[in-house]
Amino acid sequence: MTIQTVGIIGAGTMGNGIAQACAVAGIRAVMVDISQGAVDKGIATVSGSLDRLIKKEKLTAEQKTAAMALIQGSTNYDDLKQAQLVIEAATENYELKLKILKQVDSLLAPEAIIASNTSSISITKLAAATSRADRFIGMHFFNPVPMMALVEIIRGYLTSDATHAAVKDLSERLGKSPITVKNAPGFVVNRILVPMINEAFFVLAEGSATAEDIDAGMKLGCNQPIGPLALADMIGLDVCLAVMEVYLEEFGDSKYRPCPLLKEMVAAGQLGRKTGRGVYTY
Ligand SMILES: NC(=O)c1ccc[n+]([C@@H]2O[C@H](COP(=O)([O-])OP(=O)(O)OC[C@H]3O[C@@H](n4cnc5c(N)ncnc54)[C@H](O)[C@@H]3O)[C@@H](O)[C@H]2O)c1
Repeated sequence: MTIQTVGIIGAGTMGNGIAQACAVAGIRAVMVDISQGAVDKGIATVSGSLDRLIKKEKLTAEQKTAAMALIQGSTNYDDLKQAQLVIEAATENYELKLKILKQVDSLLAPEAIIASNTSSISITKLAAATSRADRFIGMHFFNPVPMMALVEIIRGYLTSDATHAAVKDLSERLGKSPITVKNAPGFVVNRILVPMINEAFFVLAEGSATAEDIDAGMKLGCNQPIGPLALADMIGLDVCLAVMEVYLEEFGDSKYRPCPLLKEMVAAGQLGRKTGRGVYTY
């Protein structure tokens, strides 16, 4: 099956990024959100992002016009019926996603595939809410979607080989380099990244090095573009803590114990850039 039209649920940070990636690759995107305001904001974000690419001479004005014409914004789920693949990129809330997925499942053609962009919810569990667990899969894009090359493709317990092949093919048509991972908390990237950040807090708490030296060490010694503590400030310390708590609970392994310093900073409301203060002051 060749995917010609992709439905996207949610016009937020990830949804509009996915719509842009589709449209630039010549694939029709139908982006649905709950309010016209959210849809309009998503489309305006794509337009602004394409303008920046024109300024950098990575895109022509004609290519922008062609891409924008491929994006249809809507507040009506019925408009998703035309899609061979629907990517759910709505707010990260389990109950909400269940409701959305049941609704979409009842609308789509039987052969259509449903994917979720969830960062933390089990793909196998979400698939079980639909009547098509074999045609359900995870597509975990990275932010900002148009810039980031990776898509983690997550196979649920019942995902079929045909579904995996179709979604891998689409990811490559979007210009992405997909990797495939079996369903497990954190998939690959966050499973490794967030415990590394947590470990950086242990090193800081033990007084082994200053925050600046920990970050400089990982940048200069491992070629990381940003140090783990500065990255924690960007992600939000509360988000990092929540992720570690999920790993501790789901794997039942004490190696995922959140660093007490991380917990203290979250309790104090020092959440990173968004509160003006985290490991560093902004
Ligand atoms: N932001 C990231 O860095 C990132 C990275 C990878 C994955 N994700 C995942 O992507 C998903 C979306 O995250 P985001 O950062 O784009 O969130 P966001 O808050 O920017 O956007 C979510 C959008 O979903 C919409 N929405 C809520 N309920 C809806 C419904 N019933 N129908 C249609 N739309 C609805 C909201 O109005 C909002 O516009 C989440 O599952 C998140 O875990 C986020």
